[in-house]
Amino acid sequence: MQENTGNNHFSPTVESVRNIIQSSQTRTEKLMALCQLLNESVPYYHWVGFYIADHRKKELNLGPFVGDPTEHVKIPFGRGVCGQAAETLDTIVVQNVGLETNYLSCGVDVKSEIVVPVFKDGRFVAELDIDSHAEQPFTEKDKAMLENLCRQISSLF
Ligand code: SME
Repeated sequence: MQENTGNNHFSPTVESVRNIIQSSQTRTEKLMALCQLLNESVPYYHWVGFYIADHRKKELNLGPFVGDPTEHVKIPFGRGVCGQAAETLDTIVVQNVGLETNYLSCGVDVKSEIVVPVFKDGRFVAELDIDSHAEQPFTEKDKAMLENLCRQISSLF
């Protein structure tokens, strides 16, 4: 399920991601399985979830997630790290949430966060949000692995 590709980089295997995406489950079940896979594969991915874009209301709706329940079930575009990613349409890495002014807290244990947008035919449809209890845990390899995973997820929308 998990491979350590060196330099303490953890990642789910390509096969385990592909098996989930190609399974006969519903999209919600697949997204949940991917959350569980990421959470189990990478020791510093403590909260893993998806937000689904509602362009009419210009807000994000919480989808499948693993980790502590969050009060942030609806997030307007522009608010917090997730809302910023919905506007910039770019991956956002916050290595120390204490230094981020536009941030919605999900608990005192959270020290860092990465948000990766998902696109379908060029349109922003969802985002993957990962919180970590570690400071500065995210490397370029995390970013590349998660962006690749989000490109694969595009086929689910
Ligand atoms: N911290 C996020 C809110 C979502 S929680 O991390 C689950 C933000 O600033 O947008």
